[in-house]
Amino acid sequence: MKYYNKITESVLYHAENEDILCNLPAYSFSVMITDPPYNFTKSNCRKMYKEGSKRLVAKSGLYDYDSDLCRIAVQFGEKEINAFMDQIPRLMKKMNAFIFCAEAQLTAYIAWAERHGYKFAILLWEKPLNIISKSRFSQNVEFIIRIYDNGTALNKLEENELYNRVFHSRVVTKKKHPTQKPTEIFERLIRLTTKKGDAVLDPFLGSGTTAVAAKRLGRVYVGIERDDNFFATAQERVDSIPEGETHSPED
Ligand SMILES: C[S@@+](CC[C@H](N)C(=O)[O-])C[C@H]1O[C@@H](n2cnc3c(N)ncnc32)[C@H](O)[C@@H]1O
Repeated sequence: MKYYNKITESVLYHAENEDILCNLPAYSFSVMITDPPYNFTKSNCRKMYKEGSKRLVAKSGLYDYDSDLCRIAVQFGEKEINAFMDQIPRLMKKMNAFIFCAEAQLTAYIAWAERHGYKFAILLWEKPLNIISKSRFSQNVEFIIRIYDNGTALNKLEENELYNRVFHSRVVTKKKHPTQKPTEIFERLIRLTTKKGDAVLDPFLGSGTTAVAAKRLGRVYVGIERDDNFFATAQERVDSIPEGETHSPED
């Protein structure tokens, strides 16, 4: 019979996730919600720098072509996906992961899930459209792949719309991270998959959105972020939520 470990304290680690994941207790998390780097090519990365990031550097100093984010981003292909995902089953009570990813990464995640006998579902975050090109389909969605074990049912909640595979949500306007995601998506996933006191894992924490959502809902969270600035931002965002201020409708 599988034993479970209970994580009772929330922690943010300023570290490489591979150094922390191997030391976390086995069978302790109810869900992983994470947003690893997408698989940019070097030229995309340079383009991002030229076209967009200069402004980000000017505004926040968070992002430049030589940053860790860019270096890791160019490397997050099938090999890295497999190495990362191989560490996750040991940590989960039952496999139940939501991973933001690029379209081109879906095949690697699906192949990994199938090799391990897990099921998968593809959810979409539909963003408001701001650029229309008439030569190709618009980039107005982001993909979230759910990889889960047989029998990992979602919680039964009042609102039917929570079960829709397409999430409609605005992009974050005053961003503290170049790829910051809306907290409401994370809150929805946490409400659907955990109960108060359950533990949520995010090994690619960025500006801390998963931890913010988990804290607001009274869940325990473990987040890992390697970058100095993003880690500090995550810590600040989490610290700004008063202890005990939870708003989970199911409490
Ligand atoms: C796509 S961003 C996450 C953004 C986040 N969802 C948010 O809303 O702010 C991915 C983050 O993973 C971090 N990262 C990349 N590789 C890492 C590693 N090996 N260990 C820990 N953090 C890592 C990057 O520094 C980056 O901030």
